[in-house]
Amino acid sequence: MKKDDVLKLIQEVKSPDLGGFGTFSAGGSSINSEEGQLLYKLCVVLKPKVVVETGTHHGTSTNYFLEWASSHNGIVYTFDVETSSGRGLHRSKKYFLRQFKPQKILWFIKPSLEFRIAKIRSSFLSSIQKQKVDLFFHDSDHRYENASWEVQSILSHMNNPGYIVLHDVLKRTEEHATWKVLEKIPAQWKHIFQTQNGLGLIKL
Ligand SMILES: C[S@@+](CC[C@H](N)C(=O)[O-])C[C@H]1O[C@@H](n2cnc3c(N)ncnc32)[C@H](O)[C@@H]1O
Repeated sequence: MKKDDVLKLIQEVKSPDLGGFGTFSAGGSSINSEEGQLLYKLCVVLKPKVVVETGTHHGTSTNYFLEWASSHNGIVYTFDVETSSGRGLHRSKKYFLRQFKPQKILWFIKPSLEFRIAKIRSSFLSSIQKQKVDLFFHDSDHRYENASWEVQSILSHMNNPGYIVLHDVLKRTEEHATWKVLEKIPAQWKHIFQTQNGLGLIKL
């Protein structure tokens, strides 16, 4: 499906509002409900069987993906890290398991912040290698080195057609450099949704 057709079709889709936090609330930096609804609408239009996301946190984005996947025989892989400060997956799990069906989710727990990148990198792709990914959502460490590594690495695991969504593309700081990844993509293959923090869509 052409990118412009996707953009046209999602305008006609209705999405449940499953909530969201956004950047400035007590919920920290989860996606907000507008962004969540967009992710759900993309699922309705693109019909992904395999969704992979990095950055589980409270599971807000995961919840929207699951809303689609659980009724369409899909699967959601979500990756986070457990940090020494108790952030990351440890906390995500606490919030998350209260609300969602664990059997639909594959967890990949990494024990420490120091090794998070090396370890998540070694497990990330090997754990999904037999699957072809239809939709990849990057919402983890947004520094350029990590964001571009994730996108480069997932490419050979993507289905054709496949779609990548990057969060926070409207923020431009050292810590938020997903815009730089998007900048390298030719205009005809990408779109920026002007949400609170920006969702960048890439069609492969
Ligand atoms: C912005 S939050 C994700 C918000 C989540 N998508 C939501 O909607 O609730 C970022 C998360 O990425 C995790 N993270 C940081 N570095 C990571 C890495 N290298 N791989 C996977 N997750 C990482 C953090 O622990 C944090 O939970």
